[in-house]
Amino acid sequence: MNPQEIAENYNKLASYWSGDQFNRENGIAQHQKALQFLSNKRNAIDIGCGSSGRFIDLMLEAGFEVEGLDISPEMLRLAKEKHPKVEFHLADICAWEFPRKYDFISAWDSIWHAPLVCHEQILMKLCDGLADGGVLIFTSGGIDRPGDSTNPCMGQPMYHAALGIPKLLEVIPRGGCICRHLEYDQYPELHIYLIVQKAAPGEEGCRRELREETCLEIEIEFGARVIRDRPKARGSAKSREAASPLPLKASPAPHVVVETVEEWCSAALSRVRR
Ligand SMILES: C[S@@+](CC[C@H](N)C(=O)[O-])C[C@H]1O[C@@H](n2cnc3c(N)ncnc32)[C@H](O)[C@@H]1O
Repeated sequence: MNPQEIAENYNKLASYWSGDQFNRENGIAQHQKALQFLSNKRNAIDIGCGSSGRFIDLMLEAGFEVEGLDISPEMLRLAKEKHPKVEFHLADICAWEFPRKYDFISAWDSIWHAPLVCHEQILMKLCDGLADGGVLIFTSGGIDRPGDSTNPCMGQPMYHAALGIPKLLEVIPRGGCICRHLEYDQYPELHIYLIVQKAAPGEEGCRRELREETCLEIEIEFGARVIRDRPKARGSAKSREAASPLPLKASPAPHVVVETVEEWCSAALSRVRR
């Protein structure tokens, strides 16, 4: 099923999400947990917002300027009735380009409807859409490898896809983010949610990578200058040089052992500034 077919099916089901039968508590505790990681609460966007408006209410109460996005015109029509002052985008998340950075992005039970082939690109895009220190909450299928299937949902065929936990945890750091929480919140159903946070709050251009089990690497891009530091590098200088895609520079400073990304960034940046 392509995203337009999904939209047509959700058009037929939209009233359920804004009706009395719908459990408006669904996902609220998880969102409250995600909000605890935030220090800035400026802009937020609900991706695949549907028609209930419950996460939008939560974001407005937390003080955000809020936007919503959905591919289903009928979902959005009902959403606008509830929140006439909120800006809504009728768009497919596969093609959407973020116009700005957001402190908080929610994609609850929505992006899993996108074609599997788009999932990695969508997750990278969501990570990229976060401001420094920003938080993304999203749901996925708690499976071990990429997979997809189409099953009936309230009388409509519905497509779901998921990258699987190992792949999700591989993509998140590539998107410059750290996984703060992963939970099977409806076990034994394979419904998981993740809270991820954009790394290096306040330190632009600073990224970290964790490689080779215990070998920490700090990679700093600061203007045009690139320095690599390996606090626990193993092997000879020659073999390390051969393994590195960038030339290793001798560092006059002693190696530092650090625990958090903030420490990595500040230690690394202070070295660059010397
Ligand atoms: C199960 S509903 C969840 C709605 C809302 N997040 C909630 O929890 O109440 C899935 C929503 O994702 C939207 N959706 C599905 N595929 C989408 C896509 N490719 N781009 C944007 N929205 C999409 C659907 O239209 C629908 O409103």
